[in-house]
Amino acid sequence: MTDFSALNARFGVSGQVVFKQGPGGLAVVEVANSQGTATIALQGAHVMTWAPRGAQPVIWLSRAAKFAPGKSIRGGAPICWPWFGPHATESSYPGHGFARTVPWEVIEARACANGATYLVLRLVPSDATRAQWPQATPVEARITVGRTLEIDLVTRNEGTAPVTIGDALHTYFEVSDVRKTAIHGLGGCPYLDKVDGGKRKSQTGPVTIGAEVDRVYLDSTADCLIDDPGLGRRIRVHKRGSRSTVVWNPWIDKAAKMGDFGNHGYLNMVCVESTNAADDVVTLAPGGEHHLDVTYSVEPLR
Ligand code: BG6
Repeated sequence: MTDFSALNARFGVSGQVVFKQGPGGLAVVEVANSQGTATIALQGAHVMTWAPRGAQPVIWLSRAAKFAPGKSIRGGAPICWPWFGPHATESSYPGHGFARTVPWEVIEARACANGATYLVLRLVPSDATRAQWPQATPVEARITVGRTLEIDLVTRNEGTAPVTIGDALHTYFEVSDVRKTAIHGLGGCPYLDKVDGGKRKSQTGPVTIGAEVDRVYLDSTADCLIDDPGLGRRIRVHKRGSRSTVVWNPWIDKAAKMGDFGNHGYLNMVCVESTNAADDVVTLAPGGEHHLDVTYSVEPLR
């Protein structure tokens, strides 16, 4: 049982940060400051909602999301770690790693001088996680909530041998109609098309979506821009420590099979995931640190 009084006494920030019980009994942090609002589940260090003050939600959270201990939440910004996609050799291990379904603890919460709020959460290892990942690699999510949202996922290798990880911020974005949305920043990148047997292709121009899309873009380091004429806005995804990007929309049939997308939910979302996926894995030398650091912001669409 989470002791909310103790959490609030130690880490609560008056007028900005409150720990409370959220949907499905999950412990959440509610952040509200002069620049923006966010809700973060301690399970998975999972940012479920974020909006700049006075603006529409930027992050899509499924209306049919299921909230339960040990289950991943459909929507928000799930953290995939320490591997992305299926495990390379163990098919019984969870897809996208275990980080998104286990408890994280609060290390720090404070108000920043510019009015934003800064939080640090750390994954709590257990016998179950150590069985799948015995390596000594503490991982922290350093989250800044304000007019922009920054998530810096920091992995440190405290062992004596090199360690290879994959990771992602598997963020779901809210769009008015995905069929009228264009994603810029991936033109010219090669990609692996997972809905066409993993064939290697090359992107020409912006990515548009009118059917299931599941692609791993390689050599992708530029900002991704999600242009949404319906909401008159552009979402900017600026990343460091990631050389691949996954674009995903399950479309109608797969969404229906998943059972947690809601009716027509797939039309109001697109995942643009800042990843270290496929061959773009990261090898950390002993003592080494990796930052997958992504800043999300919104600008008017001109
Ligand atoms: C994407 C993958 O990153 O995540 C897709 O490329 C996958 O293949 C999707 O379907 C959702 O994964 P999950 O495990 O959250 O249902």
